[in-house]
Amino acid sequence: MTQPATLFVCALCKFPQPPQPQSATTGGQHLIDQLADCLEPDQNQIVIQPVRCMAACDRACNAALSAPGKLTFIFNGLSPQAAAPDLAEFCRQYAEATGGKVPYGLRSQSIKQATAYVLPPPMAGAVAAAIAR
Ligand code: FES
Repeated sequence: MTQPATLFVCALCKFPQPPQPQSATTGGQHLIDQLADCLEPDQNQIVIQPVRCMAACDRACNAALSAPGKLTFIFNGLSPQAAAPDLAEFCRQYAEATGGKVPYGLRSQSIKQATAYVLPPPMAGAVAAAIAR
């Protein structure tokens, strides 16, 4: 059985301007709540991990998707009100795709726009080699 993917989501990201006047939560927490609903059936494949600031506060909302042996996707500019369904679907595609390589043509337009960076999986032994230097 493969290890689940981890979806890191910044819980402190703000709502875009203008701010939500009645909201008692952050944009990031709102996005996390929406994602939890969307991904509830997929808990064995995708784990949501809230984080406190990903150092890209001016590009809220921010998230990253990673799994052992797979690409890492870093997203920014995610809408806290609208991004959850497409991001959840991308997480499912990622969980099923070898190496996390979801074909570009299968990605939603919002995911294409929000993808800031894609990183390769760490090379085996790379960390140990870097430490040994
Ligand atoms: S508050 Fe979300 S990246 Fe800093």
